[in-house]
Amino acid sequence: MKVAKDPIGVFDSGLGGLTIVKEIRRVLPQESIVYFGDLARLPYGIKSHKQIIQFSLQNTNFLLQHQIKTLIIACNSSSSAAYQVIKRKVSIPVIDVIEPATREAVKLTRTGRIGVIATQATVDTGAYEKKLTKLNPNLEVYSRSCPMFVPMVEEGWTEGSICEQIVKHYLEPIKQKKVDVLMLGCTHYPLLESLIRNFMGSKVRLVNSAQSTVEKLVESLNSQKLLAHPDQKPSFKVYVSDQPRNFIRVGEKFLGERLSYVKVVRHAE
Ligand code: DGL
Repeated sequence: MKVAKDPIGVFDSGLGGLTIVKEIRRVLPQESIVYFGDLARLPYGIKSHKQIIQFSLQNTNFLLQHQIKTLIIACNSSSSAAYQVIKRKVSIPVIDVIEPATREAVKLTRTGRIGVIATQATVDTGAYEKKLTKLNPNLEVYSRSCPMFVPMVEEGWTEGSICEQIVKHYLEPIKQKKVDVLMLGCTHYPLLESLIRNFMGSKVRLVNSAQSTVEKLVESLNSQKLLAHPDQKPSFKVYVSDQPRNFIRVGEKFLGERLSYVKVVRHAE
């Protein structure tokens, strides 16, 4: 049986899922977290669905061994390919990063023109279009994959003229569509938020899945009476499947806290 002091499990292919962790730590600082970053097999966003499903199930099994009370799939490529499969297999609540963000985007748009940027794997599933147009069939959705964004983030390249040019290259066609909401459909992209904001201009609202995903997490924990006690001393454990070279440097800078527990484990099998 799950109890309130159990940790929340979060996985991503790399460090992008820390965007969700940062929001959990802001909103629910008393919660313990176990994070798995599949550095050895990053990037997921260019892999087949079959492969992403297999990796995602292995990551899930690894986290289940840590007695997690809820699982967050903090990877859009995994959320789009594997959410349903994972949900069917596990008995704890599973939260993806796509559904909560689409609700927020639909609330924010005034013109009905929404841009989505994501990995190729996520774009290929059409997961965002399907969810968005289910909520409002009149929406016009323009999607684009931005394959260079993930390596940029993993390297810690989040500013400077080279990055600005890459952002312009990918986002120009979306900007021309005059979208008023742009969804950052990849957990790595919020680390590029200021570059993206500068290019798109202040009139375009950026939707990053962290806030809406964590709102859903709060609802879910609350409804099951599984919110950790406010006095709980939380733990934050990070496991990665290969050397965390840039992970620690970039992750600490982004989170604004030291990553004191980072362990390399074999692939979650
Ligand atoms: N975490 C992945 C996602 O959100 C991006 C990185 C990757 O391609 O593995 O889609």
